[in-house]
Amino acid sequence: MKTFRSARLAIGIAILFAGPCLAADPATLNWKSVPTKTVTLFYPGQSTYQWLRSSGHPGAAVVTGGGACLTCHKGTEEKLGNKLVKANPLEPTPVEGKTGVIQLSFQIAYDNENAYFRAQWKTRNPYPGDAHPFVRFDGKEWKTYGFPKLDAVVQKGEQPGIYEDRFSIMIDDGGVPAFANQGCWLTCHNGARDNPKFATRAEVEANPLYQALKQSDVRKYLPSTRTDADASWDKGKSPDEIAKIKAASGFLDLMQWRAHRSNPVGMADDGYVLEYRLGDAGGNPFGSNVDPKTHQPRFMYDEKKVGKKALTTDDLRKMPTALIRDQNAVPFDPNAGWKTGDLIPEYVLNKDGAKGSGADNKNVKGVWKDGMWTVVWVRPLKLTNPDDKGLNEGKVYNFSFAVHDDNITTRGHHVSFPITVGFGVKAAVEATKLK
Ligand code: HEC
Repeated sequence: MKTFRSARLAIGIAILFAGPCLAADPATLNWKSVPTKTVTLFYPGQSTYQWLRSSGHPGAAVVTGGGACLTCHKGTEEKLGNKLVKANPLEPTPVEGKTGVIQLSFQIAYDNENAYFRAQWKTRNPYPGDAHPFVRFDGKEWKTYGFPKLDAVVQKGEQPGIYEDRFSIMIDDGGVPAFANQGCWLTCHNGARDNPKFATRAEVEANPLYQALKQSDVRKYLPSTRTDADASWDKGKSPDEIAKIKAASGFLDLMQWRAHRSNPVGMADDGYVLEYRLGDAGGNPFGSNVDPKTHQPRFMYDEKKVGKKALTTDDLRKMPTALIRDQNAVPFDPNAGWKTGDLIPEYVLNKDGAKGSGADNKNVKGVWKDGMWTVVWVRPLKLTNPDDKGLNEGKVYNFSFAVHDDNITTRGHHVSFPITVGFGVKAAVEATKLK
């Protein structure tokens, strides 16, 4: 009996090491054994849901009928991106030096517990975009320092462009009509930040749907949550109707690896898109570091760990800047002798701040080297949370990717057309089963 058991154990270990070896640490996976798919991400400008269906777009009739972008745009990513990134009717505020396309290398594997993603792309800048806006002491008060490059204050040269790099994955399991054909363009609408017909804070706060959400800006949403044919931001369905769509799986998973706000604690956030861009239950690994009452930071750097309580502009792009609770942060001391120009991050990280469904992506690590990010990501399979798309063997999913590069947010990212990913089934990208 004893020998039988140890023989079984020996076979078990042999099986474990036979295939591409892995376990909890995806960095040790033999990624060379997993095929790489290169996806061309392109700059989309203001090609919103509403523009795509307007007379300005020659493909409007097909798009309105739910048809696929790739019917007409197959292989045109470079042409689209290089045109849209410069001043043109769909880009009123071009960013100098921005690239039109980014080549994303994507690999995916899985075993019985997890899916493993690996993504690589080159950054425009010769440094990792791991800094994020700060608050700066001006001698009297702490004020935001650094903004994304589409913002007017950066375009006018009044503020530096500072914003984290990101890699995002959107997943549909067939529950969102037309996503397989039109991908993330279903979620991008007039009224949103940096898009046409921008909805002001006052307008948004006067709208019943946004009042119910307690939100003051328009972000991604799905057309199914609106009542009119044009899927207008202000024509929201009732919370009851929206809850029914969610229960019927009519939402998208949207997870973002963030170079400043999640990577330093080895995570990606976990969210979803339905009537808004929402976070999964359980929260995020990051939160505001600004006290809304005093307008002062809540935490500062731990001098013993960082060598100083605050940074200055000389430190930027030379060192990691994340402020992390229980690691390099201590409660803010208003009487610490602050000097004009002192910088403290506007966000503070806390790995334990994300729990439950919000903490599903708790083993994600990005490393920047020689001009390139490599992000390796563990996503548990078979998730059953009501805000996740559980990945399962034998199924095909529609993925859509985005990279935020060079200090940008909102639509300033590079995006992909939707692409099918299969687990043990035929698809454009077939996940490699680990033995
Ligand atoms: C029936 C064909 C057709 C379909 C379907 C279609 N388009 Fe187009 N689209 C065109 C044509 C033709 C143009 C004009 C420019 C060109 O030839 O590339 C265009 C232009 C564009 C432009 C502006 C580029 C420029 O030159 O200013 C964008 C952005 C765009 N399409 C995105 C999309 C997206 C996203 C989808 C899917 C939701 C889509 N299109 C579906 C035919 C189509």
